[in-house]
Amino acid sequence: MLYKYVLKPILFMQDPEKVHDRFVKVGSVLGKFKMMRFLVKVVYGYENSMLNTEVAGIKFKNPIGLSAGFDKNCQLTEIIPSAGFGFEEMGSVTGEKCEGNEKPRLFRLKKDKAILVNYGLVNKGAEYLSKELEGKKFLFPVGVSVAKTNDRKLDTEGGIKDYAKAFKLMHPTGDYTTINVSCPNLSDGQTFGYPDNLDKLLKEISKQKIIKPVFLKLKPDMDLEKVDKVLEVVERYKFVTGFIFSNLTVDRKGLITDTSKMKEGSVSGKPVKEKSTKLIRYVYKKTKGKYVIMGCGGIFSAEDAYEKIKAGASLIQLVTGMIYEGPGLIKKINKGLVKLLKRDGFSSIDEAVGADLK
Ligand SMILES: Cc1cc2nc3c(=O)[nH]c(=O)nc-3n(C[C@H](O)[C@H](O)[C@H](O)COP(=O)(O)O)c2cc1C
Repeated sequence: MLYKYVLKPILFMQDPEKVHDRFVKVGSVLGKFKMMRFLVKVVYGYENSMLNTEVAGIKFKNPIGLSAGFDKNCQLTEIIPSAGFGFEEMGSVTGEKCEGNEKPRLFRLKKDKAILVNYGLVNKGAEYLSKELEGKKFLFPVGVSVAKTNDRKLDTEGGIKDYAKAFKLMHPTGDYTTINVSCPNLSDGQTFGYPDNLDKLLKEISKQKIIKPVFLKLKPDMDLEKVDKVLEVVERYKFVTGFIFSNLTVDRKGLITDTSKMKEGSVSGKPVKEKSTKLIRYVYKKTKGKYVIMGCGGIFSAEDAYEKIKAGASLIQLVTGMIYEGPGLIKKINKGLVKLLKRDGFSSIDEAVGADLK
């Protein structure tokens, strides 16, 4: 209520990137104090054993995670668990420090419940962040997303080296590593989600010592033939634990907001919802649940999260829903999930995973 009727109208009058930066600053300060963490938890926390789950050997208090792109430099891992999340994915972190694309690079598409994003992977880089986070113990499961530096000079080989550097430096941090092969906002246009380059990339990564689950984050704009080819490649690399469906969409068809003046950028939120769920359902069915799937895209309610879980997602990630609905959304989703599980006669989240297809 406070967010929706008081804070959001004020925040939504301001530049979205400035609001994001301020949010991160405030959140990182709050997280330093036990008392503040406790108070935030009193307001936003929610626990229920029906939501406990173990995925890829990692124990989660609930299946709702903060997706990559909000906590780019890992400054929020103290406060995010108090806000009710079961995990977070920090990053994306690239081989080299990255200033990102030209500003403005973030636009709210309010009528579409979406954000047009053209950050271009702003982050402090793997060398700095790996030192900063060395040996850090987190309060909840944390994944690290790695990506290729947004540098037009990098060719395919250079891109692979850059990914490999980010992976090597960041893999020791947190509980799992995601290889983001789907950032649509790189100045050279990304190609590593495509089968040939993906194969080369995974071959290079497979030479490293892999000690934790590894996920691939894919784009929503793929036809099923392309998905099959990606699966064929991934099949060769046993270290891949699963997928995140999905990243932002480049598809602007059907948007209510006129985005013709916003030349660059890709879309988050509601417009990604159906696209990502379709891919989750397809891959879960095709691979018979062999891969762990994290569902991401357009989650604004418990029903949205449940739909992805029943389609085959073991875990959920979101960011745009929280920006539109406020941090109270996480508790609302978790509470709502418990109700939905009970309604359908499930005693845990695990029982509901892929239920549509059983
Ligand atoms: C502001 C913003 C920045 C993002 N940056 C990243 C990023 O650095 N790495 C990444 O893998 N995804 C990034 N994403 C994509 C989200 O993690 C997510 O996949 C996508 O927005 C769909 O989920 P949503 O509808 O809940 O936002 C970003 C999204 C937003 C809105």
